[in-house]
Amino acid sequence: MDTSKLKQTASQLVANHKGLLAMDESTGTANKRFAEAGIPQTLAMREAYRNMIITTPKLGESISGAILFDETIRQKGPDGTSFPSAVENAGIIPGIKLDAGAKDIPFFPGEKVTEGLDGLRDRIAEYVKMGARFAKWRAVIAIGNGLPTQTCIDLNAQVLARYAALCQEGGLVPVVEPEVLMDGSHTLESCFDATERTLHAVFAELYKQRVLFEGMLLKPNMVLAALDAPEQPGIDEVADATIHCLLRTVPAAVPGVVFLSGGQSSELASARLNAMNSRFKSKLPWAVTFSYARAIQQPAMDIWKGQDANVPAAQKALEHRAHMNRLARAGEYSQAMETV
Ligand code: 13P
Repeated sequence: MDTSKLKQTASQLVANHKGLLAMDESTGTANKRFAEAGIPQTLAMREAYRNMIITTPKLGESISGAILFDETIRQKGPDGTSFPSAVENAGIIPGIKLDAGAKDIPFFPGEKVTEGLDGLRDRIAEYVKMGARFAKWRAVIAIGNGLPTQTCIDLNAQVLARYAALCQEGGLVPVVEPEVLMDGSHTLESCFDATERTLHAVFAELYKQRVLFEGMLLKPNMVLAALDAPEQPGIDEVADATIHCLLRTVPAAVPGVVFLSGGQSSELASARLNAMNSRFKSKLPWAVTFSYARAIQQPAMDIWKGQDANVPAAQKALEHRAHMNRLARAGEYSQAMETV
């Protein structure tokens, strides 16, 4: 294991107030989002969309790394070179989604464990040859009546650590993503409890399986009330709960925490990230930044609608969201900046 290269890549991914762009939607998820935006669900459209993203002017000023899906890493970039080369040419580090999706756990209704470990060592070697330098694996934890169970948390923690160790052995920086879902009507306190239990279990397993904390990134949820909760906490309350939870659970040796957006609106995802960085600036042992998919892409997808004529306006919206999040990572974002 080349520890110095892993450490260097992990630090580079969170340097200069930049963050990650998750553009690794599986075919099913990409088609679902396209259907909602009225875009035809074809391979050609998915390729055009991803080319539109990666040719966005100035994207590399705010985005350090882009997470790709298997279909995309094999696609040609806009200039006919490989897609990972197009990503590198934009000044962005290419990464790859390695999980094969979350599947039901037998006898644990409502809970899932993520699959994709079979053959993973060989897949990692193939992606490294294609130019990937980091990877992502998402586990999902649901909150509900009696959920999450410790079994669900422990199964996902073990699998995340297996994935992370295989990544580091093969030369990829693992982005470890245990996502406590926002679905339902639970309180911020329930989310705090589930997130704390999950992160404790995940870091215990990572340690047991000898994963190098300095050569990985954590991609957690923010500590929030659920989307349908009757009471929604304020921005500062979310920021404080999230940072308190992470300070109790995430070792200081981890170079960065890169949040998922999870269904928050684009502007709330920026405002909450900003509050964490402005309120806790000197107290944070790790970089606190973003790895958003929907909260960066959604406005651009809604403008693009699959039409060439809309590309410049869609790219402007994408660049704007990336830039807003870079400012939020620095604690320099304000709602007033949203009027463009
Ligand atoms: P969202 O920001 O849309 O939650 O996606 C992040 C991600 O990569 C989920 O795995």
